[in-house]
Amino acid sequence: MDREQLKEALAWQIAIGADATLLDTPPADYTAIALSRCLQTPSPQTQPAPPISELRETVADMPLATAPASPSKQTAITTGMSQDLSHIESLDELKQALATFDGCALKQTASNLVFADGNPEAEIMLIGEAPGRDEDRVGLPFVGAAGQLLDKMLHAIGLDRTSVYICNILPWRPPGNRTPTVEETQMLWPFLQRHIQLKSPRIIMALGGSSAKLLLDETTGILKLRGRIVERDFGLEAPVPVLPSLHPAYLLRSPGQKRLSYQDLLQLQQFMSDKI
Ligand code: URA
Repeated sequence: MDREQLKEALAWQIAIGADATLLDTPPADYTAIALSRCLQTPSPQTQPAPPISELRETVADMPLATAPASPSKQTAITTGMSQDLSHIESLDELKQALATFDGCALKQTASNLVFADGNPEAEIMLIGEAPGRDEDRVGLPFVGAAGQLLDKMLHAIGLDRTSVYICNILPWRPPGNRTPTVEETQMLWPFLQRHIQLKSPRIIMALGGSSAKLLLDETTGILKLRGRIVERDFGLEAPVPVLPSLHPAYLLRSPGQKRLSYQDLLQLQQFMSDKI
């Protein structure tokens, strides 16, 4: 690695929250890098590296999340409506069914249906809360500031959007990015459950309190729920492991919590390697 690459690597590590020592040894065969030496000894051809505090400011300047994921007071619902969607046999059909579903008022105020992104064959399914402004505009989940952080988080454990599948508990943006109501999540639960069934993931990572509470049928806050894999029955042959974790939008507002998120990502990585 040359000096510029090391600077980029450092900025990236800070951006993903790797700014504290968590484990006694590195989790993988990472080559130890003498960053301090590199930062103190500019080569004649390159500009001096900015101090770490400046890199932190660069990260802090990133735009704030558009979809605050404040924990809602809602009761988690996993039984939901009686709507039978078992006749839907593919993700495309499910997307079509949602596109023609007029029972939810959110559709009227949203610009686009935000169904999913990533690899439909992936074994990891990430489920967030609801589209924000950018997602509503583009029609894909996690494309705004929170999504950019999510990409960096995935990258930290060697994943990207080709190795995961991403959707939300709601496919339409709640006006003003407010937290989804119980009625909305209840109404759309059959669609999410069918989504999980058709996707049949090896593991679900629930991003944020709304998603974790809904999927785990819990009322406890995400800071208590996170980091522990729990198996849940979604009507598949076998229960599906669910790993609750922090929402990237929350991490943008509370960067100090990124270390917890990184621990969860390492757990996801460990789970995937254990199961191979
Ligand atoms: N927050 C979410 O929960 N989902 C998105 O798609 C974007 C922001």
